[in-house]
Amino acid sequence: MIKNVAVIGAGTMGHGIAEVVAIAGYSVYLSDVSQEILNNALEKIRWSLGKLYEKGQLKESDKTIIDRIRTTVGITNELKEVDFVIEAVPEKLDLKRQIFSRLEEIVADTTILSTNTSSLPITEIASAVRRQERVVGTHFFNPPVIMQLVEVIRGNRTSDNTLNTAYEFIKTLNKKPILVHKDVPGFVVNRVLLRIITNACMLVEKNIADYRTVDAVARYKLGLPMGIFELVDYTGVDVNYYVSSAMIERGFKAYQCKILEEMTKRGELGVKSGKGFYTYPSNRYVKVNLSPDLAEKLNPLYLIAPAIKEANWMVEEGIASKEDIDLGVKLGLNFPKGIFDYEREFGKENVTRALEELKRISGEEEYL
Ligand SMILES: NC(=O)c1ccc[n+]([C@@H]2O[C@H](COP(=O)([O-])OP(=O)(O)OC[C@H]3O[C@@H](n4cnc5c(N)ncnc54)[C@H](O)[C@@H]3O)[C@@H](O)[C@H]2O)c1
Repeated sequence: MIKNVAVIGAGTMGHGIAEVVAIAGYSVYLSDVSQEILNNALEKIRWSLGKLYEKGQLKESDKTIIDRIRTTVGITNELKEVDFVIEAVPEKLDLKRQIFSRLEEIVADTTILSTNTSSLPITEIASAVRRQERVVGTHFFNPPVIMQLVEVIRGNRTSDNTLNTAYEFIKTLNKKPILVHKDVPGFVVNRVLLRIITNACMLVEKNIADYRTVDAVARYKLGLPMGIFELVDYTGVDVNYYVSSAMIERGFKAYQCKILEEMTKRGELGVKSGKGFYTYPSNRYVKVNLSPDLAEKLNPLYLIAPAIKEANWMVEEGIASKEDIDLGVKLGLNFPKGIFDYEREFGKENVTRALEELKRISGEEEYL
């Protein structure tokens, strides 16, 4: 039974995860490298809990909840009683491995060690410890307090018991877990997303469509909350460049987008730098103005068919179920419907035909 939880790293993700875990009634140890960072994190949690309380979304007072969070500098003996650890330190393999190895010296043999990594293989992080069967991925989305989805990922050595315990634990946080049965680059949600982004980039680089047309089709024909390039601007051109490159390096066969690399080098990083594919005065996101007429200029299947193929591949490979993939894109990417809903609506034959046409006009064979 899980009672005490540790969250390692109190940054963007860690402080939000600690808040979610404390709201669910667990005692939390929040660890980071300095008391100043921890105080800052507590301040943000206090503010967020205050807002939730005002809106009537908490069953207890914000003070009762925050009192369940204790802070600790470094990985100390105070963590020896914890039953479940969620690591959320920066995305560096060596650092994560060091932390897991240090944790193993302190916690009980039965404690589950989970990582919030978005792109590193769970298996490589796990190989830093002796009991690798207790290591699992728990991939929260940003911001953890708002986003419902958590991908629960099985590493090559994760035991059934660890996977199931992590899955059930995430449910107790009032989150919606989906199961990722194989440790593939990008897990489920980022594979679908990056399949769409890299393909959209290919359409632009090969002059099949311009980026405004792509975005208009995404918004008006597929009903996505943002255009594809608008989303890239929103999440960071550089972030998308690094994530896609890291996934490709680790075996995700996809179009290597040159525009993202060039824009990253020029410092055109999207909303945060004021300029990406679109411009953002005062570095603030404003909805991009796109004429619906543009959406008539490109077959929407040219955008979504590669993602439908990816989703089918994941089902065939036993990576995730259709239901979980659809839940993942709806909750993780705010898609209005699941990938398999698009497949049903467009029809399998039309999807196949669109992929064939795309292969022919782009000359790209490997992943279409
Ligand atoms: N930011 C996102 O949108 C997002 C979404 C999903 C997953 N993730 C993943 O979550 C993890 C954390 O990302 P983030 O954006 O919160 O990073 P961040 O840089 O905001 O926070 C990381 C925190 O870890 C702390 N830290 C560094 N070394 C430490 C150590 N030895 N012990 C304890 N704490 C240490 C840092 O001081 C920092 O406060 C990464 O693996 C990232 O890939 C991030």
